[in-house]
Amino acid sequence: VIRAFSTSTLHFHAVKTVTVIGSGLMGSGIAQVAAATGHKVTLVDKTKEIVDKAEVSIKKSIDRIVKKKFPDDAKAQLKYSTDVLANLNMSTDVLTAVKSSDLVIEAIVENLDVKRELFGLLDNAAPEKTLFASNTSSIPIKDIASVTKRKDKFGGLHFFNPVPLMKLLEVIRIPETSDETYNLLDAFGKALGKTTVQCKDTPGFIVNRLLVPYMVEAIRLVERGDASPRDVDTAMKLGAGYPMGPFELLDYVGLDTTKFIIDGWSKRDPENPLFKPSPILNKLVDDNKLGLKTGEGFYKYNKQ
Ligand code: 3HC
Repeated sequence: VIRAFSTSTLHFHAVKTVTVIGSGLMGSGIAQVAAATGHKVTLVDKTKEIVDKAEVSIKKSIDRIVKKKFPDDAKAQLKYSTDVLANLNMSTDVLTAVKSSDLVIEAIVENLDVKRELFGLLDNAAPEKTLFASNTSSIPIKDIASVTKRKDKFGGLHFFNPVPLMKLLEVIRIPETSDETYNLLDAFGKALGKTTVQCKDTPGFIVNRLLVPYMVEAIRLVERGDASPRDVDTAMKLGAGYPMGPFELLDYVGLDTTKFIIDGWSKRDPENPLFKPSPILNKLVDDNKLGLKTGEGFYKYNKQ
């Protein structure tokens, strides 16, 4: 009896409607996965042009998934796509969207002031029960949450690129995050099909705290003239079993993103040798060679 009661309680509270704010690579991926796992999702961005572009990229990703999931079954492919898209609504009106949301996930630009302004507005517009989460990879969750009156309902949900494929979700608590909020965020992550790990609100959480210094150390190795990017990548793929080498991954993630993260950490902890600026990274970012998305970073790509 107790078990039935607790299950139904969980079910009653479980996150069903989600607003994702910011329709870039991460926001689109989060919205797609949430829609694919039966949640009612509204993906919001500033203009119709931006959300239209996001919708096209989500459709492309769904196409890749259905071809893999149902290789010779056009009917099943169509049904999957139709079902996912039926759960997904695109919008430019964030304040209306959050009114009917159990959970809001923010995946906008990595700028504290902009995030605080947004959450200040959301705090007034969203119902009291609505949970708030940020997908930030470099800003302390507590600095964002402190603008709201619902710090107990605030946490971090840190996804990985490409969101539809990467199986991990970091669930971040600040000291004020209630157990109920944490449990709901964790259950939501599991409902998305992700494996969740818990981490305190510390710079880089788990993955980026290890991965970003590793990638920048790879650049330093090249800066010293010890090896070429190509050979470092081959070495780490074949010698350490990584799916991508550090330079492929740098280009994939975006060199601006990595520079932004390392610069932020260096400001806070200038003595840490792992966080020191890298001349090659800075030069490439200055030249707008940001990786895959601009057609050139450490490698050259055919622009898609
Ligand atoms: N949506 C749907 N399907 C996708 C996709 C997407 N966005 N991207 C790739 N796929 C599919 C492809 O269509 C392909 O399907 P197929 O096998 O039927 O052809 C399949 O995934 C495999 O893709 P690829 O053959 O192109 O490449 P890989 O086999 O190397 O897998 C990968 C791609 C999963 C990205 C793998 O290379 C990988 O795990 N790389 C490391 C990624 C990583 O470390 N991400 C974390 C970055 S850090 C981060 O995100 C944090 C942030 O805060 C900075």
